[in-house]
Amino acid sequence: MDQIKIGVAGCRGRMGTLVVQEILSGAWKGVELAGGSVAPNESLSGDCFLTHDPQELIDRSDVLIDFTMPEATRRLVWLAAKAHKPCIIGTTGLTPADEKEIVDAAREAPVLYAPNMSAGITLLSALVEQASAALGPDWDIEIFEAHHRAKIDAPSGTALALGRAAAKGREDEGRKSFVFDRNGAAGPRTKNEIGFSVARGGDVTGDHTVFFYGAGERLELTHRATDRTLFARGALRAALWLIHRPPGLYNMRDVLGLI
Ligand SMILES: NC(=O)c1ccc[n+]([C@@H]2O[C@H](COP(=O)([O-])OP(=O)(O)OC[C@H]3O[C@@H](n4cnc5c(N)ncnc54)[C@H](OP(=O)(O)O)[C@@H]3O)[C@@H](O)[C@H]2O)c1
Repeated sequence: MDQIKIGVAGCRGRMGTLVVQEILSGAWKGVELAGGSVAPNESLSGDCFLTHDPQELIDRSDVLIDFTMPEATRRLVWLAAKAHKPCIIGTTGLTPADEKEIVDAAREAPVLYAPNMSAGITLLSALVEQASAALGPDWDIEIFEAHHRAKIDAPSGTALALGRAAAKGREDEGRKSFVFDRNGAAGPRTKNEIGFSVARGGDVTGDHTVFFYGAGERLELTHRATDRTLFARGALRAALWLIHRPPGLYNMRDVLGLI
């Protein structure tokens, strides 16, 4: 069987570099590096095929992996859809309008969009939804996350996604129950709120805990990331899964077989 050719958009970025390293490590049988794209201002000299033009990368790839920036992602996903090539999107910070474009593109080709490619976080999210539904509204839900000192957004997108999973378990789809700020005379906790707390420091890759506080007992579900390579491995696992799917929009729960 032919090798599956993987094109890596943003291949010189932190995540793109890790995806390329994983492909070249030999740990993934049946895959090869088709090449990578770099930002227009970057040089094209390197050890593999490099281009500024996403169409060139798409033409030589069986599947694309994208960890770039929203503007680059928007262009890539449309061109990949037109070429009927599967595309894995790991870029975060996409607007609702961008996400709508992804939904439209997924009518033409398989697209997997996952702001967190970790298998552990994907399972945690499913467990949080299940726990929230099973324990019911009498249990108070709080979410804690910690990241390295350089992280600029808070709470993390993953913490917010865990909050949405908890709210969904209670059949509350919105963010209206989220509480981000308790300071001074904050008053007692309201019944349905989901509180977020954040720590920043050192080189923490990413810790997330969802607490369920009941009467006389509590449940704590924790995930700790120790190495960003896990996201690259998740993206490759997703790529090998996606290549066999029909057009549609998928996420990491689909890859893990969790519905
Ligand atoms: N889904 C997940 O599990 C997951 C995990 C980690 C990170 N992420 C997300 O992935 C994205 C990238 O993260 P990162 O840490 O790798 O950031 P990064 O180091 O800044 O990498 C982004 C790369 O994309 C390049 N780029 C920008 N425009 C491009 C274009 N038009 N064509 C090709 N390449 C282009 C950038 O080049 P220049 O630097 O020259 O602009 C940079 O090398 C972020 O949105 C991050 O939040 C997702």
